[in-house]
Amino acid sequence: MDPHAAQIAKAAAALKRGGLVILPTETVYGLAADAGNARAVATVYAAKGRPAFNPLIAHVADVAMARRIARFDARAETLAERFWPGPLTLVLPVADEVAVCDLARAGLDSVAVRAPAHPLSHALLAAFGGPLVAPSANRSGRPSPTTFADAMEETGAAAAAALDGGACQIGLESTVVALIDAPRLLRPGSVTRAQIEAVIGPLSEADTDAQRSPGRLARHYAPNAPLRLEAEGPRPGEAFLAFGPSEDRDRTWSLSPTRDLAEAAANLFVHLRAADRSGASAIAVAPIPHEGLGEAINDRLRRAAGFVG
Ligand code: TXA
Ligand code: MG
Repeated sequence: MDPHAAQIAKAAAALKRGGLVILPTETVYGLAADAGNARAVATVYAAKGRPAFNPLIAHVADVAMARRIARFDARAETLAERFWPGPLTLVLPVADEVAVCDLARAGLDSVAVRAPAHPLSHALLAAFGGPLVAPSANRSGRPSPTTFADAMEETGAAAAAALDGGACQIGLESTVVALIDAPRLLRPGSVTRAQIEAVIGPLSEADTDAQRSPGRLARHYAPNAPLRLEAEGPRPGEAFLAFGPSEDRDRTWSLSPTRDLAEAAANLFVHLRAADRSGASAIAVAPIPHEGLGEAINDRLRRAAGFVG
């Protein structure tokens, strides 16, 4: 057995026993558990300190596994064909309330499904043979971990096994689209609004936070230090996250020296964590253009700053 295969087998066995696994995906690291095992799912909520009304995403190996737990309409089929495996989560009517237990869905009659693209997450899902919940591996309200070390620091102590998949390529959580009635963008992500609208037509806005992903609390993804957005530069005592070339100065990081939004997304949570650790009184962040991936980056920044109601 190659070393990865042995690790995957060990992790799959841990999941079967109701244990938790630190799981790399192309977006962020997750804390995985058997979606059908309510005790295991309860352990995930406890490890994250997450309010139990916030439902989890059921991760699947492929569309066939997804169709067993959710009812796919034509729009869902088209989106899955175009964007899976990858960073897109679909909220659909639930088809199997046992494979994804009530607690995982927070009692809703819908289920969020996603087929991740990372080879290790795909291998684990295939070996396990059923859906896994995998919320981001941070403790509730903290920035999502995008490196193995950050994931271990956040919730590694609660895991029976951990897979090191290196740094996450995308660095922001998946785009969440609900297809229950009119298609709605619940959480912007690296599959952009324009890419989705090109496939299924206009997306409505989730106009209240309750209509958004139910767990999207106003203050989320937050470091300990307060954030100051749209900043031209740092004030005394502040750390600074620049966008574009940055001066060589203490407590300053550039999200992307070349103003590349994909690079900025991949660096966002790592740099927020570094700035937080620097002991700064606050973290000032340069303006980020709102087009394409910028919508998702600005969404996470506004939430981290506690602005979104
Ligand atoms: O990229 C990702 O999606 C990562 C990786 C690990 O796959 N996972 C992740 O999971 O971000 P989590 O639990 O941190 O975020 C799940 C989001 C929440 O905003 C939740 O409210 C929403 O999906 N959600 C889950 N089930 C839902 C449902 N039935 N209806 C509406 N929103 C739902
Ligand atoms: Mg999360």
